[in-house]
Amino acid sequence: MAERSAHAGSGAACDFVLRGASELVTMRGPDLGVIEGGALAARDGRIVWVGEERELERVVAMRDDALVVDAEGAAVLPGFVDAHTHAVFAGERAGEYGERLAGVSYQEILARGGGINATVRATRLASGEELAELTRRRLDSFLVHGTTTLEIKSGYGLTLEDERKMLRAAALPHATRRVRTMLAAHFTPPEYAGDDDAFIDLVAREMVPALRDEAEYCDVFCDEGAFTVEQSRRVLEAATAAGYGLRIHADELARSGGSLLAAEMGCVSADHLVHAGEREIAALRAAGVVAVLLPGTSYTLHSAYAPARAFVDAGVAIALASDFNPGTCYCENLQAIVSLACQEMRLTPAEALRAATLGGACALGLQGEVGSLEAGKRCDLVVLAAQGYRELPYHFGVNLVDAVVVDGKLVVSGGTPETAEQGGRGEERAGGIGDRAGAARGRGATS
Ligand code: NIG
Ligand code: FE
Repeated sequence: MAERSAHAGSGAACDFVLRGASELVTMRGPDLGVIEGGALAARDGRIVWVGEERELERVVAMRDDALVVDAEGAAVLPGFVDAHTHAVFAGERAGEYGERLAGVSYQEILARGGGINATVRATRLASGEELAELTRRRLDSFLVHGTTTLEIKSGYGLTLEDERKMLRAAALPHATRRVRTMLAAHFTPPEYAGDDDAFIDLVAREMVPALRDEAEYCDVFCDEGAFTVEQSRRVLEAATAAGYGLRIHADELARSGGSLLAAEMGCVSADHLVHAGEREIAALRAAGVVAVLLPGTSYTLHSAYAPARAFVDAGVAIALASDFNPGTCYCENLQAIVSLACQEMRLTPAEALRAATLGGACALGLQGEVGSLEAGKRCDLVVLAAQGYRELPYHFGVNLVDAVVVDGKLVVSGGTPETAEQGGRGEERAGGIGDRAGAARGRGATS
């Protein structure tokens, strides 16, 4: 049951309060900005005060009908920001996954018409409504795992109309915040097979300008076996002229020039970066490009991991994202990605959590809005089923998110989405300290 009592005090009247946190991980300052016994207050979806709970009643005035979420002694983090997903598609490729484990390569599957080809066929056949429904279910899963903001790319339609259909499906009404990216230069579709240049021409001349209203960013898959630096530059130049922000899939399969192009073109992010070396790292650093690292893809493909420590040590801003897609990383749980980054890339838990929140926000140009718990930012947060944030990478394979708040509204409680009838701000559960931590053990693995 939510506590609903009016507090005396000066300052703006709030309609949301979070209290009872063992640790409020704000991400303010160079480290995690942890406030033990922290609390926060929000009004109209924005945080207006963050501090120690013992100060709350003195400095914050609350409306009678304000929602109070009691963390019951659990740790609270900013909502996760997943800066790289391919969350709109039809079909699945579980059979292909099994074949790859048995030794068939990703390239072989692609060459015989499977892989991305299979997803393109299924996505073209699906209606906009069908795609939106598939996407809605995936967004529910992102949300219960604590992701409150995510980027979604097109790139399985590959005609103007099918790319538009994907981008519109990505904008369906849902509690998660979305940033849309146009990725028509993902793959040359079968009708252009053998003529990548003709397809790039179509993308640069027609699709980029025509889809500007449907996406904030434009991306291109620049790599060996995908598009060349020249072809990628052409798309990114057209995107700049049309007013998109830029992102790029770079140096995933080979050291192929994508990072250097990202620096040259002023991309907001360069993503994957498995093969980035000293030169690439220096170029990204100098140009202020955010390195988006995707360890879930390396895990699924049994490939090398991006040199995360080298990026951090060189002072490059990093983000951790899922790359959620039906081929190379079918995982919408950023907690699992944080855990992988600690295990396989040797990030510290603090570095990984920062990269999955504020880092993701920087990679999306949203650092003024989300990614940390600070006055002026959106009130998007997760209450863990754990007493300390350090448990998150360590206690892996379960969903450690108990409650999720977006815009000062409770959208997940007890690990399950609030129903529409509750208006996304249902009653908080009663319970003592330890209930939330116990919830993780009770629920067990969720994926
Ligand atoms: O980000 N790298 C390019 N594209 C996707 C994979 C897409 C697929 O296999 O469906 C990725 O890993
Ligand atoms: Fe990708």
